Amino acid sequence: NKRGNSSMNVVIIGTGYVGLTTGAALAYLGHRVTCVDRDPAKLELLYKKKSPIHEHGLEELMALTGRNLHFTCRVQEAVADADVVLIAVGTPSKSNGEADTQYVEAAAREVAEGFVPGRLYNLVIKSTVPIGTNRRVSQVVKRVLSGRGMGDNTAVLVVSNPEFLREGRALRDTLYPDRIVVGAERPEGVDILRRLYQRILEQTFDPPPFLPRPEGYNLPPLVSTDPTSAEMIKYAANAFLALKISFINEIAGLCEKVGADVTEVARGMGLDPRIGSPFLAAGLGWGGSCFPKDTAALLAMGEEHGYTMPIVAACREVNLRQRYRVVEKLQEALKGVRGRVVGVLGLAFKPGTDDVRESPALDVVRILAERGAHVRVHDPVALANAQRALEGLEVEFFQDPYALAQGAEALVLATEWPEYRHLDLDRLAGMMRTPVLVDGRNLFDPKEAGRAGWTYLGVGR
Ligand code: UGA
Repeated sequence: NKRGNSSMNVVIIGTGYVGLTTGAALAYLGHRVTCVDRDPAKLELLYKKKSPIHEHGLEELMALTGRNLHFTCRVQEAVADADVVLIAVGTPSKSNGEADTQYVEAAAREVAEGFVPGRLYNLVIKSTVPIGTNRRVSQVVKRVLSGRGMGDNTAVLVVSNPEFLREGRALRDTLYPDRIVVGAERPEGVDILRRLYQRILEQTFDPPPFLPRPEGYNLPPLVSTDPTSAEMIKYAANAFLALKISFINEIAGLCEKVGADVTEVARGMGLDPRIGSPFLAAGLGWGGSCFPKDTAALLAMGEEHGYTMPIVAACREVNLRQRYRVVEKLQEALKGVRGRVVGVLGLAFKPGTDDVRESPALDVVRILAERGAHVRVHDPVALANAQRALEGLEVEFFQDPYALAQGAEALVLATEWPEYRHLDLDRLAGMMRTPVLVDGRNLFDPKEAGRAGWTYLGVGR
């Protein structure tokens, strides 16, 4: 191998957040990567090394991958000489909450159709998949191979390798992970992923200038386990993080009743290393493409096995309630929202992304509109996606938060974009008909807002 032993032929099916980020990172680390997607519009952008998603550093990193990063729509051509094939396609929710694995299975089938006899392949499942999917994918692959008469001379190792990247920090989480989880039936499966991620595990790469290695970063452990436990780690981790947020949101509600400040409470709690401070920010609650879907899937898995999961169920319930609580606060302050002009700042499910999937902010917009408010909205990057998601609702879209505030009766801060922190609260207050600020993410300092003339309503303080 001209490129040295450590370089592998990698094929990635699916160029969503996980697939594209992983592809760009592995190519940067020296592997020869081909990303496969079906969507011609996406490919059109990708051929030009443009990213279809808004993700910090992604285009810059793609530009540094040189000839290591390729894109195609032809699965079978791509996989023939692959060492590792990663499946990173979506697993959307079915109506009962169950994660739908049809795309994962279809991808596995198509990939197996492209395998050539006499080789060893590694098929890695990166998509978040219900417990048992890895085993099912192994069977799917076996069936395809035996159907093609090559069951005996072609080996395929199916390995579970769940992903823990966060949108907005996807590349950082990929290059500097807390751990790498590998679930394999056989030790060879672990070995191959150890090789794939060697430079991450040993941190033997030059960090890209825009993604420096975090100070004090320790080498990430590789957690080697069985595929079923690996699948469970992913769901349990996401549900636990969602639970932490719901817990502090539940405490926030009581803080309001008794006059405590939840941000102080979280600070005091978080310093206990057994609790830890991340994911204790009270607010509108969690959204996005993962927590809602994964907690629903966990409940569905419990149900399938006749096992109730009251903690996960409650964590979802508290999360939904949070949106209504924020709207009700506004309703009280304005003595009803019907006919009122309300501006909503921030629509992405969190800052740093243009993703509006399951965004609590959009739900607030919907609830307000349903209750008869005239809703105006702004977001620094997610406006176009929000426009599609809110189609059919009477909502006004603004490019500028000051224009949105002109003559409005209240503002709701729904997503804590850092640029909102720098808004001129005095100037904004002066433009409002009534300066009411519902800070759904506790972004602003209540005292400062008060001094600028706002009636300030935070979450849990
Ligand atoms: C989440 C996990 O954090 C990742 O580890 C995981 O890999 C990913 O899901 C996934 O399964 O793919 P992500 O959905 O990108 O990542 O976003 P987070 O940063 O976790 O935020 C999720 C939601 O929680 C956001 O709506 C955010 O606003 C909310 N949140 C977060 C809070 O309300 N309070 C907090 O303290 C933290």
